[in-house]
Amino acid sequence: MSTLDTLRARLEPVGQSHVLKFWETLDPAQRDALTNQIESIDWAALPRLVEQYVRNKPAFALPPDVQPAPYLPVDPGAKSRPWDRAAAKAKGEQMLRAGQVAAFVVAGGQGSRLGYEGPKGCYPAGAVTGKPLFAMFADAILGAYDRYGVHVPWYIMTSPLNHDATLEFFAAHHFFGLPRESVRFFMQGVMPSLDIATGRVLLASRGEIATNPDGHGGSLRALHASGSLADMKQRGVTAISYFQVDNPIVNLLDPVFLGLHAGAGGAAAPSSSQMSSKMIPKAYAEEKLGLFCAHGSGPRKGRVEIVEYSDLPMDLQREKLPDGRLRFLAGSIAVHVLGREFVERLNTDAAFELPWHRAEKKIPCIDPATGEPVRPAANNGVKLERFVFDALPMCEHSVVLETDRVEEFAPIKNAEGQDSPQSSRQIQTERAARWLEWCGVAVPRKTDGTPDCVLEISARTASTREELKAGAGLPRAIERGQRLAL
Ligand code: UTP
Repeated sequence: MSTLDTLRARLEPVGQSHVLKFWETLDPAQRDALTNQIESIDWAALPRLVEQYVRNKPAFALPPDVQPAPYLPVDPGAKSRPWDRAAAKAKGEQMLRAGQVAAFVVAGGQGSRLGYEGPKGCYPAGAVTGKPLFAMFADAILGAYDRYGVHVPWYIMTSPLNHDATLEFFAAHHFFGLPRESVRFFMQGVMPSLDIATGRVLLASRGEIATNPDGHGGSLRALHASGSLADMKQRGVTAISYFQVDNPIVNLLDPVFLGLHAGAGGAAAPSSSQMSSKMIPKAYAEEKLGLFCAHGSGPRKGRVEIVEYSDLPMDLQREKLPDGRLRFLAGSIAVHVLGREFVERLNTDAAFELPWHRAEKKIPCIDPATGEPVRPAANNGVKLERFVFDALPMCEHSVVLETDRVEEFAPIKNAEGQDSPQSSRQIQTERAARWLEWCGVAVPRKTDGTPDCVLEISARTASTREELKAGAGLPRAIERGQRLAL
């Protein structure tokens, strides 16, 4: 059988033979590339996915008797659930010193809302320095070396659309001062993007199927498939500190959080957890954050699950406690610790599969009839993605820790407005102002209370206000309008 016949035999039974429509017009290299792409896709699974997610929109099933997930309050002395911060911190520091912690950033996304050419991690995010996001995370890892004397290994998940550019960026910046052997890149998988009307795969060009990265949840398989889990095991890593590429102020090696994950939080958090999470209190009921919920009954009673804001009924999201706070308060900021053994266990479990989530998108493609480019004005495609937080209900124990929004959450998602580079710079400045004021430095503020200056504190200098105070050389006061990077 010729290559073309073999490929046709795979595609025809699943109604996707249009992929080969332009075969005769392709040169040998293009034919090879298309053949490789076709061979990397699980065609047999496609009809079921099309039926479930394109022809239908699956109804989301709320956890039975859905409840707010319990969490450890930001104030360890709070009466609601006191916990032992000093013990957690000591344990986390010991884990860091013993080389048991890896940093893991998921950086394979398309970043379409920001509209930046290139991998999002290369985006100049520093409020004063304009440092790229990757450099800001490298600072945190270098800071951990200064404090704990250990090169924390850093795993970076890319996708085919940004892998080469990411590697080139690191090489051009000499790995931001990190030892080359402590940084490891691997690619996540992709899914074909599907025509919203027909469920046929979209064609990016005459010789290429349009694909999208398979979501940050794809990381759980990719960590295994890439050999990263085995590499971690060999290095003695037990805890994987997971974060997203778009949050420049994430405290990515937080000993307190790591210690809580390991079960060192005292009576309130006595068991080690398989996957832990940080949350911030939602600012208002309609805020678009995933919500930490718990199964109130059923076989997974007590287990934690994040429910997307669009899936939790609005009347529940507006419910208030007697003290006026929202009952479903805990919003996700996509910061987790994953147990290495937990991720290994998932990968050896034949039944392990995260659910797919569908998103309708405008996907540039060609018209399969004419081969002419299509620039869609309305959503023409469905992309399927997996979300890492769907692993939470698979954990017997899962710690959720409250944190302060300004301390750890300044995401860059959109080009303008909320969660934009500008709002991120404002939060970076506000956080630095608070730390400096706590250290006794006078910071000028405008009449609306916001700092009248631009500030940035590198995570190498300090990852907490206590570390800032302990360091040397703070100014006595900041000038009005001053731009200061520490
Ligand atoms: P987002 O949900 O913000 O998606 O990703 P995105 O693709 O980066 O951006 P938009 O929606 O197109 O604007 C959150 C985090 O998950 C990573 C992103 O790189 C980011 O760190 N991610 C997302 C992946 O690593 N792979 C994916 O397939 C999707």
